[in-house]
This record gives sequence, structure tokens and C-alpha cells, in this order.
Amino acid sequence: MSTKKILVTPGDGIGPEVSEQAIQVLNTIAPRFGLQLEITEKPVGGAAYDLTGTPIPDETLQAAKNSDAVLLGAVGGPKWEALDFSVRPERGLLKLRSELELYANLRPAVIYGDLVNASTLKAEVVAGADLMVVRELTGGIYFGEPRGVEVRNGERVGFNTLVYSESEIRRIAKVGFEIAMKRAKKLTSVDKANVLESTELWREVVTEVGVDFPEVELSHMYADNAAMQIIRNPKQFDTMVTTNMFGDILSDAAAMMTGSLGMLPSASIGGNIGMYEPVHGSAPDISGQDKANPLAMILSVGMMLRYSFDLGEADEIIKQAVVKTLDTYRTGDVMAEGKTLIGCIEMGEKVLEALEDF
Ligand code: IPM
Ligand code: MG
Repeated sequence: MSTKKILVTPGDGIGPEVSEQAIQVLNTIAPRFGLQLEITEKPVGGAAYDLTGTPIPDETLQAAKNSDAVLLGAVGGPKWEALDFSVRPERGLLKLRSELELYANLRPAVIYGDLVNASTLKAEVVAGADLMVVRELTGGIYFGEPRGVEVRNGERVGFNTLVYSESEIRRIAKVGFEIAMKRAKKLTSVDKANVLESTELWREVVTEVGVDFPEVELSHMYADNAAMQIIRNPKQFDTMVTTNMFGDILSDAAAMMTGSLGMLPSASIGGNIGMYEPVHGSAPDISGQDKANPLAMILSVGMMLRYSFDLGEADEIIKQAVVKTLDTYRTGDVMAEGKTLIGCIEMGEKVLEALEDF
């Protein structure tokens, strides 16, 4: 038995509800793969702010650094929107990403089972689509300096900086190519090289890195076109690598081919400790009502097992259990005719039952 320390930071809104279901799945599957778990919970985001006055207390950060992997629910909500920027819930998440040096964010958008009919896109457009968005996560306009709001010539001016160094681009490009190598060997690098110098450099460096991956078919696409193409014909894509902000936007778009943001898991890797979180947010409108879809969070546990503990097989089993569960049961976000509507807790239980079959 090997022991793994897992930090769970449930966060805000539906974060705690979906975390609870995901932890049960983790606890159920771990022993089958010889994993013993030490699970600790710490606050992050608005919940942490309410308790301590900061969205990322030192205790949480230290616990994250001392763990083998972090599982994060969601952060943010209207309650904290008026707070000063420096203590907003989102700052907690961003600080975790940057302190853990998680520069690569993997967001796989696939259609699980007959969820194809839950998408707002036509079934024939999304059936069989399988896109992995590799998003740069610790650089770009999210972290660039200078940034702020100040008074210039008698009016307020807000500014941010889109900056990428060659080494930052090189390391994320490498992840993009490596992931593409394990998939269909097609990589689309998304930039705005026609307008932004920083992404002109992005395109150059990605092309250079490509020389080391001759088997991967590399193409480049402008971000606006990529947004359109994801909706027009998502099946043309295999692996996509892009900047922090374009990745934020395009992964939400890609999520919609899966029917719901509630289906999309993510893995943030690159540093010594991986962090796993659903792509959806805290969904304050449905929080505390047992309506949330826990599947993105449960699938994030699968990604943890795959990427932090090298247990791809466990990830596959979780995916199969999710597909089987969706055959019969649905939460409201992916509800369809002929299926049984259930809540967050029951969905977690159904996945646990389905796990027994695989
Ligand atoms: C995401 C979210 C975050 C981001 C927010 C909550 C800071 O939208 O993970 O996609 O912009 O990265
Ligand atoms: Mg986002």
C-alpha cells in the first residue's frame, strides 16, 4: 500500500457538495489500486475569506505544498464580488496555481455516452468529438505586470499586460506536443499573432518546439477563428494548446459540446503537485439545493489518479462508471427525455454503484 496525502479545498457555492461526492468516489476506488489516502480539508476562496480575511490562508497553501495532490471545488460568488481585488475568492485559486507552478492545464472535452443529445449543438456535429485543451496557466495576461487601475489625465485607466517569455511558451508547447503524441498526433496552437506581438512570439516558439515532434501535425489558428471552429466543427480538433486567457474562453466553449459545463474536469500540472478541479464555477444560483452535477468533479478525481499517481486504468474505470450512470440518471443540467432526474447526492451514489461493475 502506498499512502497519498490529498488536500481537498471545497471552496464556495456548489464546491462543497460536488467535493463530497468526488471524495466518496476517490475513497471507493483507491483501495482497488493499493492506495491508502490521507485526506485533509482546508478552506479556499470566499469561504476562506469569511473565516480568515484572506482567500488563501497560509495554512491552506502549506497544506497544498505538503500534499501529493490537491482537489479543488470552486471559488467565488456574488457575496464577495464587492471585495477589494486583492482578496477576491479568485485570487486564492490563482495563487494556488502559481505557487504550485501549475503551468499546464488540461481540459478534455469529450462526449460521455449518449450525452450527445444534451448539447445545444446538433448531435451530428458533436458525436465523436474529443478535444483536449492544453491551457497555459501561470502566465500571460492573468499574471502580467504592470496591472491595475489608476488615474491618468483626470480619468481612471485600467490596464493589464499580456507577456510571455520564450521559456514559458516552450514548456507549455512541449506539454501540448507530448499530450498530442498520446492522442491523434494533431496539435492546433491558438494565438492572435496577427495583432499581438507576444503571441507572434508564441507562434514562433511553438513552431520551434515542433521540430522535436516530427510525428505531430502542427497547425496554427487565430483565437477568434478557433472559437468559431469549435462551434462549427469540433471534430476537426484533437489537441489544442493556447494562452491562459484564450484557454479560459475556449475551454468553456468546448465544454458546451459535452452538454454542460458540469461535465468538464481539469488537471493542472507542471509542478511537483498536481491540482484537479472541475471547469465549472461555484454556481451560486443552485448551491445548497442538491441540484449540482458532481460528474465534472468526479472525473477530476479520475484525472488525479491518472496524472498524479499514474493510474490511467482507474481513470478509465471512473469514466466507464460515469457513462453507465448517465444511461439512466441525469442531473438537471443534462436532463433528457426518458432519463431519471436526480440530485447531486444521488448522482454520487449511482456512480459508486456503477463502479462495482467495472
Ligand atoms: C477557470 C475559471 C478561473 C479562471 C476563475 C475562477 C479565476 O474561470 O478555471 O476557467 O479564469 O481561470
Ligand atoms: Mg474559466
